[in-house]
Amino acid sequence: MKLLTRRTLIKNTILGAAASVIAIPLQAKTTTPHEMEGPFYPITPQKDQDADLTKVKGLSGVAKGEIIEVFGQVLDQDSNPIEDVTIDLWQANSFGKYHHPHDTSTAPVDENFQAWAIIQSGQQGKYRFKTIIPGAYPLGSTQQRTPHIHFKIGKNGYISLLTQMYFPGQPLNTQDGLFKRKSSKEQAMMTARRIGESNQYQYDIVIERL
Ligand SMILES: [Fe+2]
Repeated sequence: MKLLTRRTLIKNTILGAAASVIAIPLQAKTTTPHEMEGPFYPITPQKDQDADLTKVKGLSGVAKGEIIEVFGQVLDQDSNPIEDVTIDLWQANSFGKYHHPHDTSTAPVDENFQAWAIIQSGQQGKYRFKTIIPGAYPLGSTQQRTPHIHFKIGKNGYISLLTQMYFPGQPLNTQDGLFKRKSSKEQAMMTARRIGESNQYQYDIVIERL
C-alpha cells in the first residue's frame, strides 16, 4: 500500500470535505401539484366571501354537512412562509352541488352554504377556514368526482397555482379520474392531513417564486 505523506493526507482531507459540502443537495420543497380549474369557478357575484363558509351573512341557518376546519401555511420552495397570499377557494355543497348556473345536476342547493371564499394568508403564511366536507358528484354517466376543494393561489412575484385539495380516507379517491392521474407523491401533497380523529385538516401549499 502506498503511504500517504502528511501533506497529501491534509490535501485529500480538505478536498474530500469540500466535495462532501458540494454533494449535499439543496432540500428545496416540491411545489404543490397543479390541477385543472374545472367548469364551476364562481361567476355569480357574492358579497360574503369570508373564511366561514358554513354561514351566509344575513341568514340565520347553518350549512348542512360535516363541519370541518382547514388550516395550513403557504410556503415557498425554501420553506419560507409567504404572507398576504390570496387564496380563492370554492367547492360543492354537502350534496355535491355547485352553486353555479352551469351545474345542472338535480342535487339541492344549500342556501346556508357560502360555497366560495377569498381569504389571505396572514402571519407566518398561515390561513384557516371553516367549511363542510363537499359531497361527491357525478361526472358523466359512469364516473364520480371524489370530494375536493378547488384552490386558486396568487401573489405578485410568484407563479399562480390552481389546484384541488383532497381528503384522506375517501373511498372514491381511488376511482377519481383526476386523482388517479397523479403520482403517489403528488397525491400525498394534494391530500390534507387529518389531525387525529378531529374535524381539523392541515393542508400546506408550496408555491414557486417567479
Ligand atoms: Fe370540482
